[in-house]
Amino acid sequence: PLPAMVDPFGRAISYLRVSVTDRCDFRCTYCMAEQMTFLPRKELLTLEELERLCSAFVARGVRKLRLTGGEPLMRRNVMMLVRAMGAHVQAGRLEELTLTTNGSQLTRFADELAECGVRRINVSLDTLKPDLFRTITRRGDLGPVLEGIRAAQAAGIRVKINAVALKGINDAEIPDMLRWAHREGMDLTLIETMPLGETGEDRTEHYMPLSEMRARLAERFTLIEDTYRTGGPARYLRVAETGGRLGLITPMTHNFCESCNRVRLTCTGTLYMCLGQEDAADLRAVLRATPDDAALHAAIDEAILRKPKGHDFVIDRAHRPAVSRHMSVTGG
Ligand code: GTP
Ligand code: 5AD
Ligand code: SF4
Repeated sequence: PLPAMVDPFGRAISYLRVSVTDRCDFRCTYCMAEQMTFLPRKELLTLEELERLCSAFVARGVRKLRLTGGEPLMRRNVMMLVRAMGAHVQAGRLEELTLTTNGSQLTRFADELAECGVRRINVSLDTLKPDLFRTITRRGDLGPVLEGIRAAQAAGIRVKINAVALKGINDAEIPDMLRWAHREGMDLTLIETMPLGETGEDRTEHYMPLSEMRARLAERFTLIEDTYRTGGPARYLRVAETGGRLGLITPMTHNFCESCNRVRLTCTGTLYMCLGQEDAADLRAVLRATPDDAALHAAIDEAILRKPKGHDFVIDRAHRPAVSRHMSVTGG
């Protein structure tokens, strides 16, 4: 077997996040600008190349693989990649194959995802109010997303809801969302806004520290510390009244970099060692130079040695994003 990936801080890399496309059918205000310039299609890795890259990472000890975007289900023929990665699950090489999606295309893909070995997905949903949903996503419709969630559940896939907490926008609605999610058998995870890419809006205005949200929720619910972990950055609380879980992802107020176990691959074959840093490795060039994976593994080793200690996001500089690329490039 090939050696595991361990960075200079002793962190073993077992989680690969793959942004299969930078495109999305939505334009969430904290994520994208109204007018986005997406990558020209000729820059993209083919699905075969993505499969080869992902498989190389699985051979190096990746146990959890998440497809993201942009919107992963917008990538043409993406199910081909899902199926190929599903084979790693079936063979016991991969523990979890999953997806972070906006849910808009889920009705169409739910059964096939389940069939390929996807047992759990995360759906990004910030509100249950149709008008507000349109305002936040700038062009999305809530109805198909809710239908998509139901389709996924009907196919036997566990769904977790991810909501970015936005002060003055959806913060007052979070208790309702929590009750709704738990009633429907889903965990709800809240995320602090991160300063990634220009969106044409000021992120400070709606930035909501989750410590504040937690205090507010504690007035209505009994929140009990839970040791449950998924291998992602969320810390969980059990809600006594509903029996469900509340996840908190707090990159701004409580940095979790010391336990980072992940790297990120873009749809052009760029490997980012950290969501919040610019440094990257171009694996596409190596991939295309030779069909032999030895050079690829050497490039991966070299990249892992450069994994930084952590990000240095600060939220009080909304007009100067810490990182100029959008979340959709590196996939969250
Ligand atoms: P689970 O497997 O359900 O725990 O998922 P996850 O939290 O690993 O993945 P998900 O796509 O649900 O991630 C939710 C969000 O957490 C992402 O979109 C990012 O906003 C944030 N996030 C995930 N990983 C990192 C990280 O390494 N650093 C930072 N700063 N944020 C991250
Ligand atoms: N800060 C925090 N979360 C973000 N997301 C997109 N952009 C940002 C940002 N700037 C979230 C989406 C989705 C996930 C892929 O990333 O809401 O849940
Ligand atoms: Fe698309 Fe997700 Fe970004 Fe919204 S948050 S624009 S759904 S990639």
